[in-house]
Amino acid sequence: MIITIDGPAAAGKGTLSQKLAQKYKLAYFDTGMIYRAVGIDLITKNIDPDNDVQALKSAENMTFSKMMELSKHSEFRSNLGGQAASKVASKTPVRQALLKMQQDFAHNPQFADGQQAQGVVYDGRDTGTVVCPNADIKIFITASPEVRAMRRHKEFLEKGITSDYNEVLAQTKERDLRDSSRASAPLKPANDAIIIDTSDMSIEDVYNNVCQIIDSKKQ
Ligand code: C5P
Repeated sequence: MIITIDGPAAAGKGTLSQKLAQKYKLAYFDTGMIYRAVGIDLITKNIDPDNDVQALKSAENMTFSKMMELSKHSEFRSNLGGQAASKVASKTPVRQALLKMQQDFAHNPQFADGQQAQGVVYDGRDTGTVVCPNADIKIFITASPEVRAMRRHKEFLEKGITSDYNEVLAQTKERDLRDSSRASAPLKPANDAIIIDTSDMSIEDVYNNVCQIIDSKKQ
């Protein structure tokens, strides 16, 4: 079974996707990690993430193990890492270079320990539209920029990362704009995706709602 969970930054995709993967015994692929890995790869080499040639070179050489190694970098999950990821992700050749790696995973899905899985939960922006247009279940989750920025802000504070709400809100809007206006695979729900606005919902509510959708489709 292939499930895609797409949506803007901080909509709650990660938590939801991981809980679903656990419940339905599916592998989990956080596709944002590969764009973050390319962004961090450039930052560590003192290269501007806007550099087309170098971003493509990094994407062409990206592998799973390299991505896991780069994910240990202290800025990997920070705003800096997110902004760099969003910049490299706006480049069509970079997206094309990273597409096969994402699609191949569905043919040979594996758990973190290397064991074979019977399917995947993809978490991203275009997994229902471009990566897996034939997915069994497509969910698009969203929330207002203010709600998402507040969630991110609290997350940073809980992790001991200095954060300013207004700055996080401005960056959330900037990333939304870049993600939804790029020429290649702009952020938008697939025609057959189920759209859920989580602004006034708890994580548990969203999870229960999506489980019901999956269970009804499985019958
Ligand atoms: O989900 P996450 O915040 O880790 O993603 C980082 C950035 O990677 C996003 O802002 C987006 O620009 C890009 N991305 C993408 N397509 C995906 C996943 C992430 O363009 N499938």
